[in-house]
Amino acid sequence: MAEIKALIFDLDGVIVDTAEYHYAAWKRLADQLGITFTKADNELLKGVSRVKSFDILLGLGPVEMSEGEKEPYRDQKNKWFVEYISKMTPADILPGVVDFIAREKENNRKIVLGSASKNAASVLKNVELIDAFDAIVDGTHVSAAKPDPEVFLKGAEAVQVAPKNCLVFEDAAAGVEAAINGDMYCVGIGAPEVLGKAHWVVPGIGYIKMEEFKRKIESL
Ligand code: BG6
Ligand code: MG
Repeated sequence: MAEIKALIFDLDGVIVDTAEYHYAAWKRLADQLGITFTKADNELLKGVSRVKSFDILLGLGPVEMSEGEKEPYRDQKNKWFVEYISKMTPADILPGVVDFIAREKENNRKIVLGSASKNAASVLKNVELIDAFDAIVDGTHVSAAKPDPEVFLKGAEAVQVAPKNCLVFEDAAAGVEAAINGDMYCVGIGAPEVLGKAHWVVPGIGYIKMEEFKRKIESL
């Protein structure tokens, strides 16, 4: 296998559990609009941009809306989300993340963020992790949504590492696909039923040992 020189982390659901806050805010909006929205439906929104997420949500219910009418609803969802994340502290970082990043920095691997969120910098500031990254690429830097690999390719470029030397950590099916489309290695964080296209699936960053990952890849 190619040597891993850069680690690219998705944010929501990988570094912090903000996937729950996105769900809570979309659910609040769905209730207001009279659209039934479940946790299973929410899987379709993970890793997906705000604009595309709202279109998926509208597709679930009886509500018809023109393009021009949509923005205030997306803004409202974001206001709720921003309210939730404003209360975050370093205690909200998922188990094992801080130690894993520190260890891999010592191993001279570049640490990169590759998130679809336009709120990524705020979240990282609130949990005091913003300085841990060699490069941050988020929803304010990309035009194509995952499963397009743009966000990860830009991350790799920012630290001057070839895609084949990058390993992506993702909790969303669209994100795993984006990594594979970008010709990168991918570890899925979550359920194998959802993230089956990843090279390896674990329940959380705290479970990852790079030696084990190498053995896993070599056995594929
Ligand atoms: C992704 C989340 O990281 O960011 C999605 O998984 C979210 O659920 C997307 O819709 C966009 O986030 P934001 O903060 O720009 O609305
Ligand atoms: Mg995610």
